[in-house]
Formats: sequence, C-alpha cells, structure tokens
Amino acid sequence: MNKENFKELPERIDTRVFRSSNIASKAIADRIAQVIREKARKNRKCVLGLATGSSPKGVYKELIRLHNEEGLSFKNVVTFNLDEYYPMKDGTLQSYWRFMHEQFFDHIDISPENIHIPNGTLGIDEARAYCDSYETAIQEAGGLDLQILGIGRTGHIGFNEPGSGANSLTRLITLDNLTRIDAAKDFFGLEHVPKKAITMGVGTILNAKEIILMAWGEGKASIIRETLEDHITDQVPATYLQTHANCTFYLDEEAASELTRIKTPWLVDRCEWDATLSKRAVVWLCQKTSKPILKLTDRDYNDYGMGDLVSKHGSAYELNIHLFNQIQNTITGWPGGKPNADDSRRPERAKPEKKRVLIFSPHPDDDVISMGGTFLRLVDQGHEVHVAYQTSGNIAVADHEALRFAEFARDYHSYLSNGSAQGELYDKALEQLTYDSDDVTPLEIRKIKGLIRRGEAIGACRYFGIPDQQVHYLDLPFYETGKVEKNPLGHDDIKIMTDIIREVKPHQVYAAGDLADPHGTHEVCLRALLKALEELKSESFMNDGWVWLYRGAWHEYSIDEIEMAIPLSPDELMKKRIAIWRHQSQKDGVVFQGQDSREFWQRAEDRNKETAELYNQLGFAEYEAIEAFRRYKF
Ligand code: F6R
Repeated sequence: MNKENFKELPERIDTRVFRSSNIASKAIADRIAQVIREKARKNRKCVLGLATGSSPKGVYKELIRLHNEEGLSFKNVVTFNLDEYYPMKDGTLQSYWRFMHEQFFDHIDISPENIHIPNGTLGIDEARAYCDSYETAIQEAGGLDLQILGIGRTGHIGFNEPGSGANSLTRLITLDNLTRIDAAKDFFGLEHVPKKAITMGVGTILNAKEIILMAWGEGKASIIRETLEDHITDQVPATYLQTHANCTFYLDEEAASELTRIKTPWLVDRCEWDATLSKRAVVWLCQKTSKPILKLTDRDYNDYGMGDLVSKHGSAYELNIHLFNQIQNTITGWPGGKPNADDSRRPERAKPEKKRVLIFSPHPDDDVISMGGTFLRLVDQGHEVHVAYQTSGNIAVADHEALRFAEFARDYHSYLSNGSAQGELYDKALEQLTYDSDDVTPLEIRKIKGLIRRGEAIGACRYFGIPDQQVHYLDLPFYETGKVEKNPLGHDDIKIMTDIIREVKPHQVYAAGDLADPHGTHEVCLRALLKALEELKSESFMNDGWVWLYRGAWHEYSIDEIEMAIPLSPDELMKKRIAIWRHQSQKDGVVFQGQDSREFWQRAEDRNKETAELYNQLGFAEYEAIEAFRRYKF
C-alpha cells in the first residue's frame, strides 16, 4: 500500500518498508556509499557510526561488494563502533572487535588507524576516562556523519538500555536481562554472557547528522511499533529517535508487521478489500468485540472502520457466512486428504488415497514439536511417511550429555573386550570434552552430539510407527561449523536436498516455514528446500507434489493465515508429548533455552491449545488442540 494514500500515519519517524532484509540492506549500503562518495568528492573525511549484531551483516556484505565490484573506497572513512561487551578480550569469538574485522574491516581498504571500537579489555578504574576520550575522538573527527543502528527487544539502541537518559554519553552500562538472554546463543549459555558493556550514549547517537535504524524479522515487530507509534519514554530508549531531524527506519515486512497501517489498515484509511485482508479484518474484529463471526453486526463493522467491507458483500450477514465457511473449510482430520470424499472444499486432495509424505525437520525434533499430531495421523491413516532431518542439531547438546555417552561407549567397549586397552579408542573424544566452551566445538564432540540426536529422533519415529528406512539424516554441511554462526548455503546442501526429494517423490512435503526469521537455521533450511524444488520443477513427479509449511519457531500462524488446521484429540496430544520426550537432550534445561523457561513439550501444547481456543472463540467446534499449516505455492 502506498504511504501517500494515508490521511494520517501514526508513525512518528520516517519509515521505509522493504520486501526483504536483503533488499533493505542494499538500500542502506547505497545510502552509506553515497555519503562516503559525496565526502570524498569534497576531499573530506566521512565519519560513520557502526553497529554489530545480526541486523547489519547484510549491509556490510553489500558494502564489501560495492568495494570489490564498484570501486567504493573507504580511504576517507573514519569509523566509531557503538559498543563492546565488557569485559571482553579483542580476539574472543563473541567480541564486537572480532565481529567487525571478520564481517567488514578485513575486506575493505580502510586504514586501521581510522577504526575505533570501544575497548572491552580495560580495567574498571580506567573505564570512565576511556569513555570520555571516545567522545572526544568522535568530536575531533568532526562528529558522526551517519550512524547506523539495530534495535534490541528492550528498545535499546547501542546498549542504551531502558532508563538511559536522552543526553547520556559514552559509558559503562549494565545489560538488561532480556538483552543477555538474546545474546546467550552466541555465548553458549546465559551464564557466559558478560553483564556489562561500553556503549555510546543516546546523546552521542542523537548528535549524528543522519541516523538509519534497521530491523528485520517478526521478533522486532512489537518493539518497532512501540518505538514508532508511542510516546517518547526512557523505558524505550529508541523512542528518543523521534526527536531527531534526519532519522529513517528501514524495515522488512515482518519487522513492520505490527505497525497500525499494516496490521489494521482499516483504522487508518480506506482499504482495498481483497480476500486476505477481509479475512484478517474479520478475525481481528471478533477478537476486538469478543464475538464469534456469526454474531458480528453492521454496527460492529461500522464502529471499526469496515463499513465499506460490509457494503462490498451486501450485509454483515452475507459477509459473516462467507468468512465462516471459508475458515470452517480449513479444518480437517485428514491431513493427507480424505479418501473417497468430495475434496472441492477440503485443504488436501483425496487422491491418491495413499500418499508418499516427506517431512523436513530443520533440527531433529521440529517434526514432533511442530507437527507431531499431524505426523501421527498421517501414519495412522496409512500414508508412507518419511522424515528428513536437515541438520545434525549437534551444537544444541550439552557437554555433560556428550560425556555421558562417550564414557558409556568406552566402558561398554572395554567390558566387551574383557577390560583390554581397546577402550582407549574413546580417549581422544573424552580429552576433547575439556575444550574451552567459548570456542568452536571440535569435530569428535560434534560427532557424539550428532549421534545422540539421531538416536533420539529415531526413537520418536519408531514410537510413531514408521520403519527405520524412512528416517533420513541429511546433516546439511552449512550447519557444521561447530559455532552458532553457520556457513552460507552451498551446492552440496542443495544436492542433498534434491537427492532425497528425488528418492521419495513425495505427494506431500512438510517443512518449517520460518521465512520471517532472517538469520535462523529454519530459514536457511527452508531456502535450501525452495532452491531444491526450483531445480526439480521440470521433473514429472513434481506436478503432484504439494508443499505444506508449519511454523517451526514458537509462534503460530494467525488464524487468517491458516489454510489447513488439524485438530488433535487429547490422546493424540499425549502421544505427541511422549514423542517430544524422546528428545531427552532437549529436556530439563537445554543449551539454547531462550527467554522462555517452559519445556518444549509445554510450549508446543500451549501453542496448539491456544489455536484451538481461537477457533472456538470465532464460533467453530471446541477441540483439544490444533496444528496449523499454510500451503506454499510456487
Ligand atoms: C550492536 C548494538 C545493539 C544491536 C541490537 C540488535 O552494536 O548496539 O543495539 O543493534 O541489540 O541486535 P541484532 O541486530 O543482533 O538483533
């Protein structure tokens, strides 16, 4: 929708929404390049304020490309980074110093003396003077011409956490717990995340001549809405940006998804009522008025700016019936299609009666967590179900778990060989288990951890009753770095994916549809699938293959997005729980817990029960739980 059409936008900062973070990152890199070139033409230094974290990686990548392919020089560029963890050694894996060099500085022609990154190695008594000198250095360089920013879920910019003042300058700050939780995956556990950081202040940032803030993914959507639409408050330091004369937000569609003009455009202006928007608006109205669909009246629609939607359909009655039927048709107990039934209004085809199904699971437990009930139904209804675990999931296994298995293997081997010295075969792995957990996980340990996850996955599959030969471990190479940071997708990854699809020739493919997660493994696994399908599209078996996406992460599709809803009985939900329990290394305190302290089976059940509840509130039958899918159309 075109921004000019809006009578009044509740956003208080200029905002540009892009189809993807890649496109947006390119636009930011272009703006940076423009500023650098303008300054170079005037023979001036260009002073850039830089950020770290996952958000600006695409911008740095594009700047490197502009340097290599389009002659962009950084000779006249002076940089000041926003922040650094404290305490932190320069070369440490998680240090922003290392991040900046690996992601950017090592690949361009910037002079090392022009690079400034807050020093996390200082003694605590030196910090104050050091921070003052950082401010002086920025001023002496002529002030920041352009500052780029990410935003934390606390609303921090730099590491200016809630409570930071508008005039604050570079200083040592205590990190918010939510920020530390978000950083935990990079540090292999919350306990290793530093408690403090050195950060430029809000005042330092606001002094920049131009500011660009970028945010990707739905995880940022609610803090972005608050920052852009709510009043200025020190509880959301990014809201101070509303006072800056030249600040622009660059967002992808997911990060922008909570903005009023996107989420509820009917509250802001007239809308083009297509099928998707109409469904979304009606579901929203039901939630707003706490009424089921069939009880909505003309008055309800008029009160919330949807009078024209009703006019389009004749009356509230007509509109209600139309949408009620549409949503009712998403519910089916037959995920593989109902044999011998009229399928014109069902989500899946009736034929072939027995389908070959290929479930892709990014990690070795997403299949049962996200679609365990549907998986079970597909097996029980006689389909040939295959599961392909895309990655080994090895880095999510704790060292103590790996040690337990390595010692067991050694001792058992030693027992079988009557206590001879053969047990020493395992000593290498055991020695490795004393490696420094800050660093890359060694191959031997990854092997053990990967095997642990394989054992759990096959245990869950056997519990659901599928033969061992229908369980496939793809171990995609992009994942095998031994660190949180993964490699880019390569030909080998795609080849493994095309091979398995060719082997199974599925009528149905299920995959984690987390396109909104710009940096996660799920998104990479989905891209690998889409690339593989693209390569295979001319093969005849592909005409018959439908792709269903489940939401792999902890969110669920909203009701208006769901195209197939599979209800689960209490018994099925219990079986799903047991299958999730088979993944023992992911129980009782896991390596990547995130901010949610619930066990995985609890999160899965809460999510499926909530979906059932939402359907019920709209006026549909009351189910114990519901799993949800969207069809991916090429
Ligand atoms: C990084 C910084 C932080 C991040 C923010 C978002 O230098 O100052 O404010 O920009 O925490 O991090 P990501 O981009 O990883 O979501």
